[in-house]
Amino acid sequence: MTSNGLGDSSPIRVLLPPDKSIFHRILFLAALSNKTVRIPIGDIIAGDVRSTINALKALGVSIQENPTELIIKGAGRGGFRKPGKPIDCGNSGTTARLLMGILSGQSFDSTLIGDESLSKRPMKRLASLLERSFRAAISTSENGTLPVHINGKRLHSGNIDLPIASAQVKTAALLAAYCADIQTAVTEPYPSRDHTEILLQAFGIDLKIESNSIFLRTGRELHLPTEFQIPDDVSAAAFFVAAGVIGKVDVRIPNASLNPSRTAYLDILNDSGVPIWFEEVASKNGERVGTIVVNGSSIRSIKPFQLSGSIIPNVQDEIPALAVIALFADGFSNISGASELRKKESDRLEALAENIRSAGGTIEESEDGLLITGSKEFKPSPTIVTHHNDHRIAMAMSILGLTGSAVTIPDASVVSISFPSFFSELQKFPRANTIILQ
Ligand code: S3P
Repeated sequence: MTSNGLGDSSPIRVLLPPDKSIFHRILFLAALSNKTVRIPIGDIIAGDVRSTINALKALGVSIQENPTELIIKGAGRGGFRKPGKPIDCGNSGTTARLLMGILSGQSFDSTLIGDESLSKRPMKRLASLLERSFRAAISTSENGTLPVHINGKRLHSGNIDLPIASAQVKTAALLAAYCADIQTAVTEPYPSRDHTEILLQAFGIDLKIESNSIFLRTGRELHLPTEFQIPDDVSAAAFFVAAGVIGKVDVRIPNASLNPSRTAYLDILNDSGVPIWFEEVASKNGERVGTIVVNGSSIRSIKPFQLSGSIIPNVQDEIPALAVIALFADGFSNISGASELRKKESDRLEALAENIRSAGGTIEESEDGLLITGSKEFKPSPTIVTHHNDHRIAMAMSILGLTGSAVTIPDASVVSISFPSFFSELQKFPRANTIILQ
């Protein structure tokens, strides 16, 4: 060990894209403000964030794109223009759901559409909540999916009890209330990620949190700073934390968003005996930010983990990476209460079971979870990944290539939905035998 606690060889430094959840929110909030906001950007913009940018442009918001920054000129909450055609939300559930909230109280009608995967995801439960609580008028397809037609109208104050913990649904409700200048209390069964609450408070909105309820009073305008720096994406970090664990190498991931509602997977891995810690921790715009250090070279064994209940909403985007790590743990890892994973970009429980089995792993799928049999001797068989156009399945399975076994990823550009530079970061790791097909 060197004095910093890491092994002798220098750690691999992984650079992540900006945090996708925060990026969507800052774009919407900047557009709803009366300010001009600069957002520094360093990389190609991820596909999902691009969907939000295009949607805002379709609503008449001025967004100037320079090589190193975006400049958004807020239109104010009453300043959006009726779009000339349906708004295409691409693959992005966050774009579609947040727009449903924002557009339900506008003075015009609008329609949301999306790609094949997004067009299978549930929209009805949000539409019904907004209708019941705020008297919005939203219709979905017969299956409760996109296309969604929003009949913009005056909304009324009301409270919302969420049947499931969902940050997208919660945020849609809060933004609907903010845009329509009505009051609400939104209650979740368990807390989901809280970026919206943090940003609204940081920008001067009257918002209070008491246990699982959020109380929003509006009447105030958003006071955004002239420049907003987005921390990097801790969910994208999960794949390279897995790379450190599976490749048994030390990894440093700087400038990651370390919001406690997103870092539960790191606590789980720590409890399983993976040495992970944070350095250079700071608070920026109410969000915890810092460097994630993974001491992969010192791992001798990994304890299996059991995930259920209130932890699930805080790890759902990281379950693909955790499932792949579980293959190398000493025994049975169990994930339950995770049926929401069936409603993501793919049915992630089914996709993980299918791909892990095809890589020679032992995994059982239940209605709401997975049982994975791990072993420190696990060596994947060569596999061709069926990612079902789901970026997180493609990235999680790619990490298995660090064992030296060939892992082939067809249509590899799917990763650009959240992490355009994923494969160039992966190439920093020794023994990477992930074969990319475009
Ligand atoms: C997100 C919330 C999560 C997450 C998604 C992004 C967000 O979904 O899975 O990738 O930015 O609000 P839920 O709405 O199910 O919490």
